[in-house]
Parts: sequence; C-alpha cells; structure tokens
Amino acid sequence: MIHLRSPLEIELIRKSALLVGDAIAEAAKMLKPGITTMQVDARIEQFILEHGAIPSFKNYQNSYPYASCISVNDAVVHGFPTNSVLKEGDVVSVDVGAFMNGYHGDSAYTFIIGSAGDDVKQLLRITKESLYKGIEKAVHGNRVGDVSFAIQDYTEKQHGYGVVRELVGHGIGRKLHEDPQVPNYGKRGNGAKLKEGTIIAIEPMVNMGVKEVYHAEDGWTILTQDGKPSAHYEHTVCVKRGKADILSSFAAIEAAEKANPNLDASYY
Ligand code: MF3
Ligand code: CO
Repeated sequence: MIHLRSPLEIELIRKSALLVGDAIAEAAKMLKPGITTMQVDARIEQFILEHGAIPSFKNYQNSYPYASCISVNDAVVHGFPTNSVLKEGDVVSVDVGAFMNGYHGDSAYTFIIGSAGDDVKQLLRITKESLYKGIEKAVHGNRVGDVSFAIQDYTEKQHGYGVVRELVGHGIGRKLHEDPQVPNYGKRGNGAKLKEGTIIAIEPMVNMGVKEVYHAEDGWTILTQDGKPSAHYEHTVCVKRGKADILSSFAAIEAAEKANPNLDASYY
C-alpha cells in the first residue's frame, strides 16, 4: 500500500531527513586518511542520539549492527563500518537513516578521500546527477518507471556504467522501507502511479564497471563483482504537482566537503 502523507507528516519526515543530512555532514568533517569507518559511525550515532532521534539502521530486522552503512571502493552499499583505516583515493559512501517523532528520513552521499582520477570523479558526478534526473520525474501523474528510466538512461545508456539491480529505492515514512519499490532501472510509463504526498527515497547505486554484485562474508556488505568502485547518492523526496519537494538536503554535506582539505570536491 502506497501512503499519501499529510502536510504535517511531510514536515516531520523533512525534520528526520534534514537531521540525516547534518549527520552525514558530521562525517564529512572528519573523513581523512588514517581514520577508521568505525570512528565515523560512532560519531554519526552520537550526533543522531544527541538530537533526540534514533538511527534507523541500527538493529534493522534485528540484524544490522551499526548506525550507518559506510561502503568503501568496491563496496556498493550496506558496508559494515570497520577498524581498517581510510587511505588517499578511497571512495566512501555514507548512508544514514534517522527516526524521530514517528517518522524516518534516509539519505546517502559518496566522498573521495584525498584525490582521485578523472574516471572516479566522473562516476561520482554522473551518479549524483542521475539522482536529480530521477527526482525531476517524481511528480504527480508520472509513474515509478519514469523515475527508474531517467536514472538508468543517464548512467547506463549514456555513460556505460553498471546500474545495480538487486537493491532499489523505496517508499519511506513510519517505516524505513515502504511501498513502492523504486528501482534504478526500468521503462517509462511502467509501475505504480505517483501521487502528491507520496514520499520515496531515490537512491541510484552505480558501478564504474559491471552491474553485477555479491554479498560479503559479513552477510550485509554488497560488493561489485569486478572489484571496480561504485557510487551511491540518496534523497528522501515528496512527490508534488509540477516539481518534487526534496526533503533531505546535501547543503550541509557539500559545505563540509568543500571545507575539508582531505576531501576532493572538484568532481561536480
Ligand atoms: N539506505 C539503505 C536502504 O534504504 C540503507 C538500509 S541499511 C539497513 O536500504 F540496515 F537498514 F538495511
Ligand atoms: Co534508502
């Protein structure tokens, strides 16, 4: 069942989603060579708790052990924070959810530690742009497939990247994952109709090489089959007439990214 949220509910989801952006910005402030992703996760969890919210991912399905997913290089998504240190050139995706006032927000952003080659920078830029191409289609009267097609067309058909099939975007609200599923691949005009007040998390996961992925031994981390890097950006978005309302924000994240000399923000 696809929910239609009231203006009050939309504002509560916006609050949770904006807190997620601020939590990822905290991560952006501390990312540098030599830090562990476990340290980053600990800061994210502390920040969310300090602000009166609960990390949505922790204990998800009585199973996910951390507040965030931090996926490095060939890890696509659902990366376990670990005690190994980040190094120059690493591609680090930070995915966070927060639950407050009965509603979840969900957002993700990919960073470059130090600097990276043009091939990596293009992967991140195109993936981020594809998120906005999908959001452009998240308007009343369109269908889920219009969002899906826009993302796949831009990343896969126009740039030759691999779009992950196994994981998809999703409705979000009282639960982290609600209907509808929002794949990053599909056909225009297919799928459920989007209506004003439906809230979805749009989250392209794009591989530099092949689209195929596999599960790591930890049972959660998803890795690219060919070992090449992957990028992931996510916004929580409310479907409206004419133009979608982006409830999460990259503003604080991008400001922190630009201010941190240990991150490369020259890719977009
Ligand atoms: N943003 C991801 C998703 O929507 C992260 C979920 S991690 C989980 O699937 F642990 F909560 F599953
Ligand atoms: Co999500």
